[in-house]
Amino acid sequence: MSLSKHILLTGATGFLGSHLTARLLQSGHRVTAVARGTKTASPKDRVEEVMHDVGLTQFENLTVVEGDIALPDLGFPEPLRNRIVSSTDEVWHCAASLSFQQEDRDEIFRMNVDGTRHVIDLVKQMPSRRLQHVSTAYIAGNRSDLALETDIDVGQNFKNAYEESKCRAELMIDADQRRGEIIASVYRPSIVIGDSRSGRATHFHGVYAFIRALWTALERLRRRMPEPGPVNLPLRVLGADTQTLNFVPIDYVVDGMVEIASRPESAGGAYHLANPTPTENRLWLSHICRLLAVEGIQLVGENSFLKSPMTKLEALFQKQMAFYYPYLQGEPRFDCRRTLDALNNTGPYCPPVTVELIDRMVGWYVDFLNARA
Ligand SMILES: NC(=O)c1ccc[n+]([C@@H]2O[C@H](COP(=O)([O-])OP(=O)(O)OC[C@H]3O[C@@H](n4cnc5c(N)ncnc54)[C@H](OP(=O)(O)O)[C@@H]3O)[C@@H](O)[C@H]2O)c1
Repeated sequence: MSLSKHILLTGATGFLGSHLTARLLQSGHRVTAVARGTKTASPKDRVEEVMHDVGLTQFENLTVVEGDIALPDLGFPEPLRNRIVSSTDEVWHCAASLSFQQEDRDEIFRMNVDGTRHVIDLVKQMPSRRLQHVSTAYIAGNRSDLALETDIDVGQNFKNAYEESKCRAELMIDADQRRGEIIASVYRPSIVIGDSRSGRATHFHGVYAFIRALWTALERLRRRMPEPGPVNLPLRVLGADTQTLNFVPIDYVVDGMVEIASRPESAGGAYHLANPTPTENRLWLSHICRLLAVEGIQLVGENSFLKSPMTKLEALFQKQMAFYYPYLQGEPRFDCRRTLDALNNTGPYCPPVTVELIDRMVGWYVDFLNARA
C-alpha cells in the first residue's frame, strides 16, 4: 500500500469519480468527496448510493461535503474551506459537464473552465499545491496526426464545446504550473467503458447510448413480430468502417491513474490513458449487431444519403446520435509512451479490444437493458 493521503475529490457521483473514489479508499487513502445534493437526496446519500453501485460497503475513510465547482472555493463556508485547505494532501478533479450539445456551450465552459479555475484556486491555498486533474484524450480535437502527451493546444479545431473547454482548462493548469503556483498531473482517458473483467458499467455515455438507441428500436419491432428471432433492420449509420474508436476499460483507467499518481516523479506530466490499439468501428458494429440479433445495419458515408434519402428511422437515429457521429468519422491517434513507460513492469495493463472483450461489455449491457425492460 502506498502512503496514505488525505484526498479531496470532485465528481464522486459520476462514472470515473465513483470508481476512482472506491479505488483510492481501497488503497488506504482518506477521501473527502465534494458533491451536490438534489431535491430528494443529500450529497452524502448520493455519494453512498453510487459507492454501493461500485461495490464499496465500508465508508469509514470517506467524508462527503456539499460543494459546487461553479462557485469560488466550491461554495464552502469559510471554516470548512480552512479545514480542507489545511488538511488536504492532494485534489483529484473529476467533475465536469460531459454535454456535447452546442446549445449548452456556456454551461459547459462554466463547469469545465470556470469550475477548474475554482478548483485550482483552492489548490493554490494548500501547502502541497498538488492537483491530479482528469481531462480527456479528445482535447486533441480534429487532429489527424499523432497526438503527443506533451501537446495541449497545437492549433487544432474541436468537434464540440466539451473538447474545447477541456483543452482550455488544461491550458490554465499548464500556465499556473509553469509559474510554479501548482504541481499538477493531467490524466487523459479516451472513451471509458465498463470493467474489463465483468463488463459491468454504472454510467452509460457514448457507445452505450448507441447500443441503447438500437436496442429500443429493436424492442419496438420485436413487439410486433409473431415469433422471437433475428430482426432485419435496414439502417444506415453515418460513419467510417475502417476508422477507429479508442476504448479503455474503467479498471485500467482508475488503476493506471492511481498507480501513476503514486510515483513522485510523475508530477507535472500529462498521461494518455488510452488504448494503445484502438478498434475499427466495423469490429464493434458487427459484434453489437450479433449480440442484439439484428441484421441490416451498416456504416455509410454522406454520399449514401444523397443517392437515397434517409428513412424516418434513420433520421430519428441520426437526431438522437448527432453528437456522437463526428467520432464515427475518425479520431486522432494517441501516443501513450509516457503512460506505458510509467506503468512498465508493474501494470496495470490495457487489454486489447478482442471479440471476447466486446462480448463481455456489450453482453453485460444488453442483459442490463433486458432486465430493466
Ligand atoms: N466517461 C468518459 O468516457 C470520459 C472519457 C475521458 C475523460 N473523461 C473525463 O472524466 C471526468 C469524469 O467524467 P464521467 O464520465 O465520470 O462524467 P459523469 O459520469 O457525467 O460525472 C460528472 C461528475 O461531475 C459532477 N459535477 C458536474 N458539475 C458539477 C458541479 N457544478 N459541482 C460539483 N460536481 C459537479 C457530477 O455531479 P452530479 O452527479 O451532481 O451531476 C458528476 O459527479 C470528466 O472530467 C471527463 O471529462 C470521461
